[in-house]
Amino acid sequence: MKVTGIAAIGKNRQLGLNGKLPWKNDSELAHFKSTTKNGILIMGRKTFDSIKNPLYGRKSIVISKNLSGGDKNHFYVNSLENALVLARFIKNVDQNVFVIGGSNVFKQALPHISELIISEVEYDGDADTLFPSFEKEYECVEMKVCNRPSKEDRFTVRKYCKKM
Ligand SMILES: NC(=O)c1ccc[n+]([C@@H]2O[C@H](COP(=O)([O-])OP(=O)(O)OC[C@H]3O[C@@H](n4cnc5c(N)ncnc54)[C@H](OP(=O)(O)O)[C@@H]3O)[C@@H](O)[C@H]2O)c1
Repeated sequence: MKVTGIAAIGKNRQLGLNGKLPWKNDSELAHFKSTTKNGILIMGRKTFDSIKNPLYGRKSIVISKNLSGGDKNHFYVNSLENALVLARFIKNVDQNVFVIGGSNVFKQALPHISELIISEVEYDGDADTLFPSFEKEYECVEMKVCNRPSKEDRFTVRKYCKKM
């Protein structure tokens, strides 16, 4: 099963601040939504809290030590390993599996992630969660600059593959 990591980061790998994204970038969010459409999303409980509701048209697998249950589009599991087992079990042939964060979940999942889709946004400020360092294990294979009239809406997407 191919596992893709997808994240938006600032200039210094910033991911989050006070349980939210540190920036507002609607174009990048639209890119996230279209890329993950119909997919299976694996995330930490705090990331799920920040999204508030399962994203429409996707299945969410939420990792938590304390929570269990869920419904047909949203499941709780108690480890990354169980998240991957469940994703393999529920996955249809046309569904992609994405790890969407946060910080510690990315760190745990990197050994399983063959492809990273990283948006770099125009943000240079504070953060309390960072994307882990990944550049040694991955090489950039594609880059797309998404230029927008407003600076806040600009971002650059880089696709990385794990080095052989
Ligand atoms: N920029 C981006 O692309 C992006 C993406 C995602 C998130 N974010 C931001 O990042 C922040 C949230 O990320 P975070 O790193 O603080 O938290 P997180 O990884 O989303 O969630 C951490 C929680 O996940 C559960 N968890 C993680 N690993 C586990 C394991 N091995 N076994 C059992 N449970 C496990 C625990 O939940 P319990 O406490 O319930 O046990 C833990 O407290 C927010 O600010 C969010 O907006 C940004």
